[in-house]
Amino acid sequence: MVETIEWTADGVVMIDQTRLPRETVYVTCKTYEEVAEAIRSMVIRGAPAIGVAAAMGVALGMLGSDEGDFDAHLERVCGALAATRPTAVNLFWAIDRMKRVAQSLRGHSLNEIRARLIDEAVHVYREDIAINRSIGANGAPLVPDGKRVLTHCNAGALATAGYGTALGVVRAAVEAGKKIAVYADETRPFLQGARLTAWELQQDGIETTLITDNMAGYFLRRGEIGCVVVGADRIARNGDVANKIGTYSVAVLAKENGVPFYVAAPISTLDLTLADGDRIPIEQRAAAEVTHVFGVPVAPEGISVANPAFDVTPNRYVTAIITEKGVAYPPYEESLARLAG
Ligand code: MRU
Repeated sequence: MVETIEWTADGVVMIDQTRLPRETVYVTCKTYEEVAEAIRSMVIRGAPAIGVAAAMGVALGMLGSDEGDFDAHLERVCGALAATRPTAVNLFWAIDRMKRVAQSLRGHSLNEIRARLIDEAVHVYREDIAINRSIGANGAPLVPDGKRVLTHCNAGALATAGYGTALGVVRAAVEAGKKIAVYADETRPFLQGARLTAWELQQDGIETTLITDNMAGYFLRRGEIGCVVVGADRIARNGDVANKIGTYSVAVLAKENGVPFYVAAPISTLDLTLADGDRIPIEQRAAAEVTHVFGVPVAPEGISVANPAFDVTPNRYVTAIITEKGVAYPPYEESLARLAG
C-alpha cells in the first residue's frame, strides 16, 4: 500500500496527490507554512489525511517556538493550519487535539513539549490506520458478495494515513474472500476517482472500472451494483453527510434503485455540535478547476463558473454509517450519539 504521509527527521513527507498517477513524487514540508500550503493546494487531501497532516504541522511548527512566545506561536501555527480548508472537520479535530496536549504540558521544558507533540502527531497517524482497519472489519459484512461496489471521490489509503475508509471496507471485503469489483466515479472537477481511487485499487490488484460521474445512474439501474460506499468530510448530529460534490446525486440515484448507500468514516468526522448538514461550511474552489483540465481550457473564456467542492446528502438517503466503533443506523441522532459517547 502507498505511504500517504510520514513524519521524518527532515520534516513531513507527503506523496504529491496533484501529480498522481502520472508521477509518484514525494514532497518534504520543512515548515508549518509549507504543510498548510500542501493542504490548501491538495498535495494532501481527504478528511483523515488532512487531520494527520495538521497534527504533524502543529508538531513541526512548535519546533520553532521559544519560551517567551509559546502561547502566541501555538495560536499562530494552529490558526494558519485551520485556515486552509473549511469543510473536513478532521482538520479542526486534529488541531484541537494537539492544542490540548500542548496546553496540558504547561510548566514542562520546551524540549519536552516539542517531543510530546511529535509523539502525539505520530500517534494520530498510527491510530488512523488502526481505525480504518476497524471500519473495514465493521463494513465488510455489509458488502454483497459477487456484486460491484460503487464509490465516489477517493476515500482510500491516499485520503487517510493508510488503508482507507470507504476503500478500507472494499479492502476488508476482498480480504474476507468476497468476489467484488469496484466502479469508481471519476469525480469531476478534481478527478480524485480517476487519478487516485483507480490508481490505488489498481496497485492492490482490486478489479476496478472507471466511469464518468454521469454514468452512475446507468449502472445503478442495471442492478449490477450491490452497494455504494463513500467517505465523509463532516457528519452532522442528525446523520446528514458532507462529502465530495456529486455524492448527493449518487445517494438519490441509489435510493431510487433500491441500492444501499453506506458512508464509512471515523468518529472524528462526526460534528455533533451541528444539528444538521445545512450548517456545514462548504468550500468553494477556484473556477480554473472547472474551466481547465490539466491546464487545458475546456470552456469559453469569461464564462461564469460555480465550484462547490462538497455537497450534503440528507440522512434519509443514508442506509448506514460505518465507523470504527460500529455501524450506525437511523435514527442517527440516537445511534451516532451512542457510538460517539
Ligand atoms: O477535496 P478532497 O479530495 O479532500 O475531498 C475528499 C472527500 O470528499 C473524501 O470522500 C472524504 O474526505 C473522505 S476521505 C476518507
